[in-house]
Amino acid sequence: MAKFTERIRGIASYIDAGESVADIGSDHGYLPIWLARAGVSPRVILTDIAKGPLAIARANAGSYGLTDCRLGDGLAPLAPGEVDVVVVAGMGGETIIDILGANLTKTASFAKFILQPRTKADLLRSWLSERYEIVAEDTVRERGRPCPIIVVSTSAA
Ligand SMILES: C[S@@+](CC[C@H](N)C(=O)[O-])C[C@H]1O[C@@H](n2cnc3c(N)ncnc32)[C@H](O)[C@@H]1O
Repeated sequence: MAKFTERIRGIASYIDAGESVADIGSDHGYLPIWLARAGVSPRVILTDIAKGPLAIARANAGSYGLTDCRLGDGLAPLAPGEVDVVVVAGMGGETIIDILGANLTKTASFAKFILQPRTKADLLRSWLSERYEIVAEDTVRERGRPCPIIVVSTSAA
């Protein structure tokens, strides 16, 4: 049974109706399922670096019509600018920096990122502020723990 926690709903609240989305490191696929159920996004791509979590994502999300599940590291499974919004959530701040920093040209091809670091949020903020514009910030709670949500514009068209 999908768990649409305040954290998942908080991330989803920064996705505008009609925006296409890639959920990097989707694991259980709860965010894409929430978006599909709410009819927010016409297209959602689920990715994960590991086969096990991707299989879970595929099994959970398939019945909601979410069948575009891709194996790979960070942004590698996506074509440049393929979606409007990229979500990287539930990972450490350093992993998120590694994902965004692996290919800055490709990162800049996506207009909007929604980032939800589990750790090292200050390090991530500092890295982001040298390169992009942080357009919104929020903190929600999950199991009593504060979870920062950082929305970034790269100013890509
Ligand atoms: C803790 S889960 C978070 C799941 C979901 N995004 C969330 O916020 O609830 C982290 C997932 O990210 C995946 N992951 C870690 N590093 C990754 C990377 N570099 N690229 C893609 N997926 C990655 C892991 O395999 C795992 O399934």
